[in-house]
Amino acid sequence: MATERSFVLFKPDAVQRRLVGELYSRFERRGLKIVGLKMLSVTKELAARHYEEHLSKPFYPLLEDFITAGPVVALVVEGPQAISVVRTMLGSTNGREAAPGTIRGDYGISRQMNLVHGSDGPEAAAREIAIYFSENELVDYEPTLGGWVCADDEK
Ligand code: RTP
Ligand code: MG
Repeated sequence: MATERSFVLFKPDAVQRRLVGELYSRFERRGLKIVGLKMLSVTKELAARHYEEHLSKPFYPLLEDFITAGPVVALVVEGPQAISVVRTMLGSTNGREAAPGTIRGDYGISRQMNLVHGSDGPEAAAREIAIYFSENELVDYEPTLGGWVCADDEK
């Protein structure tokens, strides 16, 4: 089973609503290993690189306004099938349709202000991690409890 890295962003609504601690603990509790973490403000240029696929969409100006409106917290998480695990934790894009138990289904009722971004595939994950983090900002360590999170053949 592939150990993957995924890029996660706590969006400005998560920071302003003071949900960062609660949301961060969900990723910790799930067993994902946090290998990168920082707070920053997203500039228009950074927004355009991150959301490149949406640049031509009608909603892009609103997305740009939202994602640049306040500080964000960026993470890189690691674990078996981390990319799909994170997407499942987030739930549907629109909080009104997201299932209870997911982050968007538990904390939001908005399509735009949906709290957390997660990479939607391996290429996106590699691209987004490289946009937000330099190699020396990512840490490598053996979690003490790693042996109790999953079996050797799942890593
Ligand atoms: P994300 O990329 O942030 O993880 O979200 P996602 O894959 O679930 O959704 P995506 O289609 O990639 O959309 C990116 C973000 O743009 C905002 N959005 N606004 N007004 C609209 O129609 C609209 N559609 C999407 C949301 O913040 C969405 O997460
Ligand atoms: Mg997306």
